[in-house]
Amino acid sequence: MKNFTAIILAAGKGTRMKSSTPKVLFPLAGKILLSYPVDLLKKLKAKRIVVVTGHGSGQVREEFKKDKLRFVLQSPQLGTGDAVKCAMEELKNQSGDVLILSGDVPLLAAETIKALFKVHEKKPKGKDKKSKNAISFISFITNKPKGYGRVVRDSENLVTSIVEERDCLPSERKISEVNGGIYLADLEFLRSNLAKLKTSNKQGEYYLPDLIKIARSKGQGVSALTVIDESEVMGINNRLELSKAEAAVRERILKALMLGGVTITAPSATYIDYGVKIGKDTVISPNVFLKGQVRIGSDVIIEEGVKITNSTIGSGVIIKSHSVIEDAVIGAGSEVGPFARIRPGTVLSASSRIGNFVEVKNSKVGKGTKINHLSYVGDALIGEDVNIGAGVITCNYDGVNKHRTIIKDNVFIGSDSQLVAPVTIGKGAYIGSGSTITKDVLSSSLALTRAEQKNIKDWAKRKKAKKNKSKKNKKKKV
Ligand code: UD1
Ligand code: CA
Repeated sequence: MKNFTAIILAAGKGTRMKSSTPKVLFPLAGKILLSYPVDLLKKLKAKRIVVVTGHGSGQVREEFKKDKLRFVLQSPQLGTGDAVKCAMEELKNQSGDVLILSGDVPLLAAETIKALFKVHEKKPKGKDKKSKNAISFISFITNKPKGYGRVVRDSENLVTSIVEERDCLPSERKISEVNGGIYLADLEFLRSNLAKLKTSNKQGEYYLPDLIKIARSKGQGVSALTVIDESEVMGINNRLELSKAEAAVRERILKALMLGGVTITAPSATYIDYGVKIGKDTVISPNVFLKGQVRIGSDVIIEEGVKITNSTIGSGVIIKSHSVIEDAVIGAGSEVGPFARIRPGTVLSASSRIGNFVEVKNSKVGKGTKINHLSYVGDALIGEDVNIGAGVITCNYDGVNKHRTIIKDNVFIGSDSQLVAPVTIGKGAYIGSGSTITKDVLSSSLALTRAEQKNIKDWAKRKKAKKNKSKKNKKKKV
């Protein structure tokens, strides 16, 4: 299977999705549909990948501009056969086999493609030693063949044609072997036969599968690889199928993680995106969502209802229930939550503690620092072993600009204090509870802004006495 080229068919409108987004750009387990065949072809080392685009072509190109793909525009979309015809202009100087994949069939495994190559390269029945198949494809047996092309075989069990559902005779409609829409064809064969495709069918389209009949009529070899795992070749044509594929991908992702040493207590209630990496002996509790580029170390505990997006979690971390973490780094051995919100740009160093109802945004928090209760920390640079009391707020926004708060090592910020940025608290300084800090605080000093406490002796006693007296007066009047 060396030196093969590839075509991905992705020009279709995806009418059945009923969406303004091109079908191949829909996300599936956190990865765009079209990325599935693209990544598969990269893994298999296709020497050239041609993507046929049509609907939303600009959007599709933009999304894949970093990948080494060649795009051709198919406009209007006259069918899968016409799409391949369009792709041929990018394969002019190429020879050998071309693998044709659909942009809407995401779950195909590399092993299956390898098996297709084996079947394709095998000498066809009754042919001389040198000859190989002109075209091979993947089929599968299903009890729900609706929407797929039926595979028609002759008395020798050789494939003679593929008939689209709408063109089926009643007897053909009953066939349970269907076309998976994945083909491997000889480029020379395509060059000489694509022009022979006709539109004389119910949809008035150029059908790529009609090449099977053409090959057979010329006595050329056709092979089918029949796969057992139906989910591998399931095509996504509507949102119901998208959700089924989502469930199938999710099952695969979780299975691989569990077999790799991750405990997932409730797989049916765990949502982990494609590509998320998790270390050994980490425990993922129910209702956890891990989205995008998430890296989690080993021996981590992720409690119930946590959502983590595009973040890195160090080893030995505990993320307690219902915490939300986005675009952040959590250092090894730290504890976060329950009910914490860690927003983009936050870096927590090792062994830090972020407690309940604490929000941290775009801030660096030093090693061993604790922010345990009800705080807002934004645009701050916090040193090591700092203690931030309950209800402390960094006032980082003056209504126009954001400003930084700098808190050096070993500082103690008393509860319910506000730090009005820009402000710097020197090393080892103390802020008395309830202070509003507007000026820099020197290291090792105490800053305190609240008014001094007054104790008024017997004030409450006098108040009570006054109240009782007025009550008596009222009664007398009555
Ligand atoms: C196609 C096959 C059917 C097979 C099924 C497997 C044909 C005629 N039928 O049907 O035998 O069982 O796939 O999933 O091929 N596309 C283009 N340009 C076009 C039309 C389609 O690029 O003019 C692309 C689509 O974007 C899609 C793929 O080709 O990625 C398949 O097209 P779709 O319309 O989904 O074909 P099916 O009806 O599913
Ligand atoms: Ca399809």
